Amino acid sequence: MPQETMTHATLGFVPGRRWLVGHALKMRKDAFSVMDSARSCGDIAVVWLGPKPAYVISHPALIRQLLAAEDRSLDKGPLYENLAQLIGVSIGTLTGHPHRVRRRMIAPAYAPNDEIISTVAFEVASSWRPGHLYDMVEEMRRLSFTVMARTLFTDAITADSEAEFVQLLPVALTGIAKYMADPTGVLKRIPTADNRRVNHALTRLQQIIDDGVSTYRSAGAGAGGIVAALTDARDPQTGQPLSAEQIRNEAMVLMSAGSETVAGVLSHACSIMAHDPAIAEQLHAEVDHALVDLPMNPGKIPQLEYAKRVIHEILRLFPSGALMSRRATVEINLGGHRIPPGAALFFCPYLLHRRVDLFDDPDRFDPDRWLPERAQRIPHGAFVPFGAGPHICLGDKIAWSESTTAIATISRLWNLQPAAKRAPRLILAPTLNLDAVPVTVEPRHPAQSPI
Ligand code: HEM
Repeated sequence: MPQETMTHATLGFVPGRRWLVGHALKMRKDAFSVMDSARSCGDIAVVWLGPKPAYVISHPALIRQLLAAEDRSLDKGPLYENLAQLIGVSIGTLTGHPHRVRRRMIAPAYAPNDEIISTVAFEVASSWRPGHLYDMVEEMRRLSFTVMARTLFTDAITADSEAEFVQLLPVALTGIAKYMADPTGVLKRIPTADNRRVNHALTRLQQIIDDGVSTYRSAGAGAGGIVAALTDARDPQTGQPLSAEQIRNEAMVLMSAGSETVAGVLSHACSIMAHDPAIAEQLHAEVDHALVDLPMNPGKIPQLEYAKRVIHEILRLFPSGALMSRRATVEINLGGHRIPPGAALFFCPYLLHRRVDLFDDPDRFDPDRWLPERAQRIPHGAFVPFGAGPHICLGDKIAWSESTTAIATISRLWNLQPAAKRAPRLILAPTLNLDAVPVTVEPRHPAQSPI
């Protein structure tokens, strides 16, 4: 471990521990009530997953210390343990030297394809009909899954395969989320109809990726896509390419990490546009002022300062990666407390980003706290929606480009009116999203309506 940066962290115990199960059932049913209880327990909050203690960390210095730690004293922990079994070894599960080599090799595949992003954002937003009701959670999933399908394969994917891909991806992701959260590892082995559907989706997606690799190798189709970039990747030291299995695993983990996370940010954005007219008005004013034409020219992204502040604020209050995990492989000292080997550690950006000692009026949604003069007062390490250290998100540029473009495209075309009495409910599965955001859409510029 690197030098300790904090020696006197406060530690408390989350109330409501049940005999045998501890907080495990409650975590499964309503992780946010457990996290809200953890919020007042201190820098380190102890929860019980069955008979074992787990540690929820929300102090920035401790989080920085752990995220920056070499992988000698920590592995990736419970959230990732089942991932390797499900989709094989990949950047999502590797640690130490093999992780560093793989990361260098595949980083070029993570460049955003802005043209595909703006085309898909326009296709989705212009498919809506005035006065109709849409669930923005579903629509934003459709948007991000389509971006994913097209950026993986570019011209090598047919409309039919793309439709199949967009239909299979949520089934596979639901399974991955369920199995990742299963500490016993047995759920995926039970032959239920649900499991069969998930296994079919995973196998079929892997076949589509393998086909993409073959097509690229034989005909060069799909050049510029992520699958092609993974096929072209070389180990900087040995010059070796990735094997077919490694390409498949990397494409699978990229899809898993990159679709639901962005969809979650966009669902929140739509919910805010629908429920907070003042914010919607400022977004409208900005896209009108920047003369955003559609499909949006990616060159306009730097002008969309307010949209970026809204996204920052969504990432602060509703970070898609609300919980990250590690497991201590040896005894470690954390803020003056002994953490035994084998203990699970959860870093909680959701709690960190709501600390009253780091953010003024932390529960308030206030995009202007990201104005340069105010943002510089936010302490270093207080905002880590993309993690930090050797495992910091590889897809942050894709996430920024896709979120900004989609929000600008929707704001350019539509007023979103809330269509439900109750506010959307937060869900964690395992990324943060909303249960539903029903809205009706009204065109902002009827004369220029794309319909
Ligand atoms: C708003 C959207 C996103 C958020 C909030 C987010 C958040 C995160 C976080 C917190 C981590 C660190 C996990 C850890 O240390 O345990 C991470 C890692 C990662 N993310 Fe993202 N992510 C987002 C979008 C994406 C996208 C779009 C992609 C791919 C296209 C992606 C690919 C990855 C990968 C591959 C890693 C693992 C990196 C490594 O271990 O070296 N993410 N992400």
